[in-house]
Amino acid sequence: MSTKVTVLGLGSMGTALAGAFLAAGHRTTVWNRTAGKAAALVEKGAAEAPDAAAAVAASPLVVVCLATYDTVHEVLDPLVGDLAGRTVVNLTSGAPEQAAEAARWAEEHGFRYLDGAIMTTPPGVGNPDFMFLYSGSPEALAEHRATLAALGDPVDLGTDVTLASLYDTALLGLMWSTLTGWAHGVALVGTDGEGKAAAFTAVAGRWMRAVEFFMNTYAPQADARSYPGDDATLDVHLAAIGHLAHASEARGVASGLPELFERLVKRGVDAGHGGDSWGRLVEFVRAEGRA
Ligand SMILES: NC(=O)c1ccc[n+]([C@@H]2O[C@H](COP(=O)([O-])OP(=O)(O)OC[C@H]3O[C@@H](n4cnc5c(N)ncnc54)[C@H](OP(=O)(O)O)[C@@H]3O)[C@@H](O)[C@H]2O)c1
Repeated sequence: MSTKVTVLGLGSMGTALAGAFLAAGHRTTVWNRTAGKAAALVEKGAAEAPDAAAAVAASPLVVVCLATYDTVHEVLDPLVGDLAGRTVVNLTSGAPEQAAEAARWAEEHGFRYLDGAIMTTPPGVGNPDFMFLYSGSPEALAEHRATLAALGDPVDLGTDVTLASLYDTALLGLMWSTLTGWAHGVALVGTDGEGKAAAFTAVAGRWMRAVEFFMNTYAPQADARSYPGDDATLDVHLAAIGHLAHASEARGVASGLPELFERLVKRGVDAGHGGDSWGRLVEFVRAEGRA
């Protein structure tokens, strides 16, 4: 079903969002601070609004993708009167506390607010294999879910508006950890051409499925705060980390990662938890943050 949607912000991501709405047949109005970014979208059928006020007035659903939350306020604070009764879906990246503040701002001014996080780069927008995380107004998500599905698979994290940002930052942390491990692995197996990085990555991709299995093993342990080491203990991991440190040193590969692993796991072992699983590290990461 074709619905009216406005996209504020035509950076790399906003342009991809508007393109996906158009591709799904939605009547899409766009606006960007700097002129000249809408031409390709207009050719595909978008209406370009002369200013943000006209863009907001054009649709009951306003999707915002600007540089920061401060930018969102800069653009929308003067228009709060026009937002009343509409839904704002904010896909701008930010901190959970900023999402909470934005939800209070929306409530104060009588519009519905859904916070979102885009779990892809622009080329993945429009592909249902990629997730868009949402939290906040359940009514807004229920009403606009079908339209938002044009962007990617909508994942409902519930009414706590901070969760989309919180999951976003946590998932980015997971991505950076994984990609840093990948970079370390590629450096270790050799970067002297001959397709060694590609060969390693093919094996690493299969290994990621095993890592997902391990996470699924440790998640219920972390929830129960009980970490039986009946698959592999921290003692066993510590010895294996020593092999990674040794192989890295022997090949002149930067040692930051094995040192980090060793420090964390040794804390667990030194505290008498050498027989526990890797899940025990959740406790130590948490405790270090409070120390
Ligand atoms: N790119 C990604 O892969 C990706 C992935 C997930 C999430 N995100 C998030 O999506 C948001 C946009 O990212 P992007 O990649 O599209 O960034 P971008 O290409 O740098 O675009 C930034 C947008 O913000 C606008 N803007 C900046 N300051 C402004 C101001 N003071 N007033 C009005 N508009 C202003 C820019 O308008 P002008 O054209 O006038 O400068 C432009 O439309 C960010 O929060 C980013 O973290 C991006």
